[in-house]
Amino acid sequence: MKAVAVRPPHKNSVHLAELPMPKVTDIPDGRGVLVKVLKIGVDATDREINHGLYGAAPPGYDFLVIGHESFGRVVEVGPAVTKVKVGDYVSCTVRRPGGSLFDKIGRNDVTSELTYYERGINLRHGFLTEYFVDDMEFMVRVPEGMKHLGLLAEPSSVVAKGIEQAMLAQQRLQVWQPEIAFVLGSGQIGLLATLMFRLKSMRVFTFARQKAEGNLKAEIATAYGATYCGALDGKTPKSVVAELGRGPDIIFEATGSARQAFEAMEYLGLNGALIWSSCTGGNATIDAVPANKINLEWVLGNKLLVGTVNGNWKHFEQGISAMAVGELMFPGVTEKILTHPLQGLESYAEMMRLLETGECLKVFVEVAKDE
Ligand code: BGC
Ligand code: ZN
Repeated sequence: MKAVAVRPPHKNSVHLAELPMPKVTDIPDGRGVLVKVLKIGVDATDREINHGLYGAAPPGYDFLVIGHESFGRVVEVGPAVTKVKVGDYVSCTVRRPGGSLFDKIGRNDVTSELTYYERGINLRHGFLTEYFVDDMEFMVRVPEGMKHLGLLAEPSSVVAKGIEQAMLAQQRLQVWQPEIAFVLGSGQIGLLATLMFRLKSMRVFTFARQKAEGNLKAEIATAYGATYCGALDGKTPKSVVAELGRGPDIIFEATGSARQAFEAMEYLGLNGALIWSSCTGGNATIDAVPANKINLEWVLGNKLLVGTVNGNWKHFEQGISAMAVGELMFPGVTEKILTHPLQGLESYAEMMRLLETGECLKVFVEVAKDE
């Protein structure tokens, strides 16, 4: 069968590869689930992998099949599979366990080992292919009524985990009711974070560069009931803090820019939590960080920084549930994120080209029809 692959660490190596058809029996103990791929989303991580900045081929291969945002339909299950059945819509988690204690208790999303195994990213083939097989543990059911958003299951899991981790850590404060949230960035992660904060009835400000007028991202954030703030309209986190007279209780940073991640430390409110989720490759440094001021304010303000990556199947379930409630509260809004569909695995060159522009909200591949 066909698969879209790269040859890390070579630059611009995206190509069509051949893989043998997977079998349920590839997974031990009758726990295999064979999935027919329907749609796969791609993101900045796939672009970085194709730039050779990130990612590695599985042992024994000189190529890596990419694609980590999966959506498909179960076509066959092993005899021990109870979690899903033939015909179910599913997404599949990305990270596979290593050897740490966290990995052994199903928390491979917080592995304490440096090497991590991620399908479509590091040392394991991904989902941008015709069929894949995996252990039932990593399968997440997507309700029939949510199949139009199934391909956002993985990105929504990343957001759900970030917010969950911050909320858990904030229990240190005993009573903490976040009222004002800032979301930095209006890509898929920023918009889904906007949704999830709005579902918690917070006042949400979503920040990005572009002007609000005629801007789909602004339209989506506003439809969720958030205030969109474009830097080109003169609206920045610092200007909003000045208007509000205080800093936000919680910040979800998803710009992909380490500078903005650091700047967020300057305006987080008292007792606040700052969530960092951007994977920033490269070696850039920043000058003129007001280090004394930040240090003093963080100490006197009891502030918290939480880094977050990946999501396990529980976070997938949280993400899908949040999007489902989102459909009830803001019907039809989330699907507006799905801006750039492409047809078939053969569209891989166009897919990379669209990712390279950095301007598409969501590029995804419709690998097969759902029949
Ligand atoms: C993926 C995560 C993954 C991270 C680091 C992101 O693009 O969505 O699942 O853990 O990259 O590789
Ligand atoms: Zn991703």
